[in-house]
Amino acid sequence: MNDSSKKREHWATRAGFVLATAGSAVGLGNIWRFPYMTGEYGGAAFILIYLLAVLLLGYPLIVNEMVLGRAAQRNPVGVFKVLAPNSPWWLVGALGVFTGFIILSYYGVVAGWSLAYIYKVVIATVVPGIDHARVFQDHIGSVWEPILWQALFMILTVGIIAAGVVKGIQRWSMVLMPVLFVLLLVLIVRSVTLPGAEEGLVYYLRPDFSKVTGRTLLAALAQAFFSLSLGMGAIMTYGSYLDNKDEIPSNAMIVAGLDTGVALLAGFALFPAIFALGFEPSAGPGLAFITLPAVFAQMPLGAFFGVLFFILLAIAALTSAISLLEAVTAWLMDEKGWSRKRAAVVMGVVIFIVGLPATLGYSVLKDFSFPGLNKDLLDTYDWISNSIFLPVGGFLMAIFTGYVWGAKRATDEANKGHNRFKIGRWWAFLIRYAVPVLIFFVMALGIYDTFFR
Ligand code: TRP
Repeated sequence: MNDSSKKREHWATRAGFVLATAGSAVGLGNIWRFPYMTGEYGGAAFILIYLLAVLLLGYPLIVNEMVLGRAAQRNPVGVFKVLAPNSPWWLVGALGVFTGFIILSYYGVVAGWSLAYIYKVVIATVVPGIDHARVFQDHIGSVWEPILWQALFMILTVGIIAAGVVKGIQRWSMVLMPVLFVLLLVLIVRSVTLPGAEEGLVYYLRPDFSKVTGRTLLAALAQAFFSLSLGMGAIMTYGSYLDNKDEIPSNAMIVAGLDTGVALLAGFALFPAIFALGFEPSAGPGLAFITLPAVFAQMPLGAFFGVLFFILLAIAALTSAISLLEAVTAWLMDEKGWSRKRAAVVMGVVIFIVGLPATLGYSVLKDFSFPGLNKDLLDTYDWISNSIFLPVGGFLMAIFTGYVWGAKRATDEANKGHNRFKIGRWWAFLIRYAVPVLIFFVMALGIYDTFFR
């Protein structure tokens, strides 16, 4: 007997669902990317735009995915097959599953670096005068080491998914998410109590509206999609393990709030320490893997805080990666009748292999880049999935609910269960008009800025 002939699993508790979904949302995107984007794209000006993106696009779309998943009790492809039989809409789900594939493939690479740095940061902080940029370049530039860490990370991810929704995803989210919150708080307290911390806060938060261009808007939009795990069906898949008595409107609000809160707080853990110890923030991966180890090297008990930081990063990555793998796994279980274990293991291996070019993009394939993009392979995977596939996926999901399945029906579905608060006509308005129009214009503007300026 395979899993598909059993009854569908459901979350055992409300906290289980909320922490698992928040675990999906809170990831590398919050801790590793949001802070540097904020610093780079105009501080509080960027935060403002980002908050608007979360409220106008993020929240309605989280509710939408949860509703579609719960209504159909299926994976992203199955959702459309159930709700719009004999139509091509299932392709939206297929695009989502494919995007999940791509995201997890390169996510595993960065997550692998984080795992390796749990011990490498110790070396980097105790060896005097070490060249931190060099340590990182040597790590990602060596062929086998990053591959082994990436493989280890994928094994952990597969292990949790193979154990099931309640015994794997829910159980580990209940353990890891509280640890994540505590670690983040410890790091913030350490950072903001260093003498000279204010300068970092100024850098992080001072609004600079001159940095707001079409590209900034697209960056904020892409970041909101990525950070909230939207547009590929991860939240839909988690929603498919909800019961009719479960609340959607308030849970979606908590998830959006936790995710945004952690992203904002991560900046408070990083910038005060960076500036207090006399460093300049760098953009991109260099911030976490080069600047921070240098900062920890200057800090009393720096090795200790460094280890905590990379454990935090690895935990955040793990609870996100499992949601990506779960969407893919659920598709194979529901649609192809595979057992959970087989789907998780086979997909874990395939995704690992697809990720290898991204890893090798810093060693063997260093000189390769797609014409016109001027990005390394990992950034290319990242850019295509976040700036193109996720917004397109979210756009089509909104169109589907707004004009095909029906916004009224979706609203009623969301308001089932004993709700603390219900969504109203405003939600239907956002899904039908605001979300599609905003996504369309921001994408057009951002693509114009990226390629034609
Ligand atoms: N939200 C995660 C982060 O911020 C990444 C992630 C997990 C994701 N699942 C997703 C992104 C689904 C897009 C779609 O790091």
